[in-house]
Amino acid sequence: TFAVVKDILAGKHAVGDTVVLRGWVRTRRDSKAGFSFINLHDGSCFDAVQAVVPNSLENYSSEVQKLTTSCSVSVTATVVESQGKGQEFELQVSALEVLGWVEDPETYPMAPKRHSMEYLREYAHLRPRTNITGAVTRVRHTLAQALHRFFHENNFFWVSTPIITTSDAEGAGELFRVSTLDMTNLPLTDKGQVDYNEDFFGKEAFLTVSGQLNAEAYACALSKVYTFGPTFRAENSNTSRHLAEFWMVEPEVAFADLDDIAKLSEDMLKYVFKAVLEERADDMAFFAQRVDKDAITRLEHMISNDFVHMDYTDAIDILLKSGKEFKYPVAWGVDLQSEHERYLAEEHVGAPVILKNYPRDIKAFYMRQNEDGKTVAAMDVLAPGIGEIIGGSAREERLDLLDKRIDEMGLPKEEYSWYRDLRRYGTVPHAGFGLGFERLVSYVTGMSNIRDVIPFPRAPHSADF
Ligand code: 4AD
Ligand code: MG
Repeated sequence: TFAVVKDILAGKHAVGDTVVLRGWVRTRRDSKAGFSFINLHDGSCFDAVQAVVPNSLENYSSEVQKLTTSCSVSVTATVVESQGKGQEFELQVSALEVLGWVEDPETYPMAPKRHSMEYLREYAHLRPRTNITGAVTRVRHTLAQALHRFFHENNFFWVSTPIITTSDAEGAGELFRVSTLDMTNLPLTDKGQVDYNEDFFGKEAFLTVSGQLNAEAYACALSKVYTFGPTFRAENSNTSRHLAEFWMVEPEVAFADLDDIAKLSEDMLKYVFKAVLEERADDMAFFAQRVDKDAITRLEHMISNDFVHMDYTDAIDILLKSGKEFKYPVAWGVDLQSEHERYLAEEHVGAPVILKNYPRDIKAFYMRQNEDGKTVAAMDVLAPGIGEIIGGSAREERLDLLDKRIDEMGLPKEEYSWYRDLRRYGTVPHAGFGLGFERLVSYVTGMSNIRDVIPFPRAPHSADF
């Protein structure tokens, strides 16, 4: 049978069983006693398994002793109890076939030593071979699976919302435009340049910044839905928490108000934190050891404590009284910057904060107005170390108030006519939020740059691979 490292280390094969394992060499060490120790990994879990290769193999000196990091091999071996400390099981190899050599190991970019994250970013196609990117990838997978499971168990339906759209869901003008190849001008012009039409088959269209508006249409019929897909923002921000292409999870709930979705966000985060601690203990131990010593304790703390709710207005008070010199000055009405968010979550509270009821004028057109006429029923979840990981709101379900807002903000009403229909035909209060998936992965792993938690990051000046 073909085996995977994870099963071998977990004792899924009886001692004495013969298995075939295919994977890559992590390290090789030759012993004077007539065998080599090869650490083999296949990505199925954090650890590699130790394979003991005797010099009696016919290709021992011709091949085995020439193996270097990342050579691919297939071994036939017996599962045995390990003599050494650490792992319980190892492999006693009876045959080893080299599948692929590493040419010129001296210049192999992933040669085994500590590489900086900046260096690894230049090798986005090879970095999945490193311990750190492997661990991030498995944690990312587990978080995605746990999110789907959480919503499924809570009677949400997954709705796939479009990537190409004509509406600017956030009204913030951070759109990438979609164009089509100009078929009338093919083949290519003699300069070798491609001609594009300025639009999507005769209409201006963009890559979506959020699936929310489409999700609202489905929530207003199926009650509880969520999206999980890629979103795009043409903001030219070169920060460690912004990407031009990122994934977003957006639940939308009919008949819900702001406190309902604040609660939902807390339940959801706790659920996925638990899943990661249970299912990715090996990877999380690595993050705690090598990346951020609080990686595990932070999640445990969050699981067992209530999130702190705070009004925007009170947060401004706290920031004003903090005596801190912020780069961006604080006053009621300003949008909070990451330094403010981090002060609140890290220094003032020391745990995630759900900030609610923001000034109307700094928020999107669809947010529900509060009685005071100044604020909207919006919320952000602020996490220590990162700042905003979730943004959401109750939606304005009253057509007259929505129209007033669209007019005030000078948005093209025609583009939102289908959205207005949701208010014209059986409107209901509803609310939802968006979780930036990469911000979540950063938060859970302690990885400080968002570009290191998505396989192939897209950001200003970064779209290779
Ligand atoms: O706060 P945002 O802009 O909210 C929305 O898009 C709403 N339509 C969501 C909703 O209510 N359904 O974005 C939501 C989250 C942010 O809290 C942040 O975590 C993440 O998306 N985000 C980004 N992540 C990476 N790179 C960027 N450029 C991001 N912009 C937002
Ligand atoms: Mg936001």
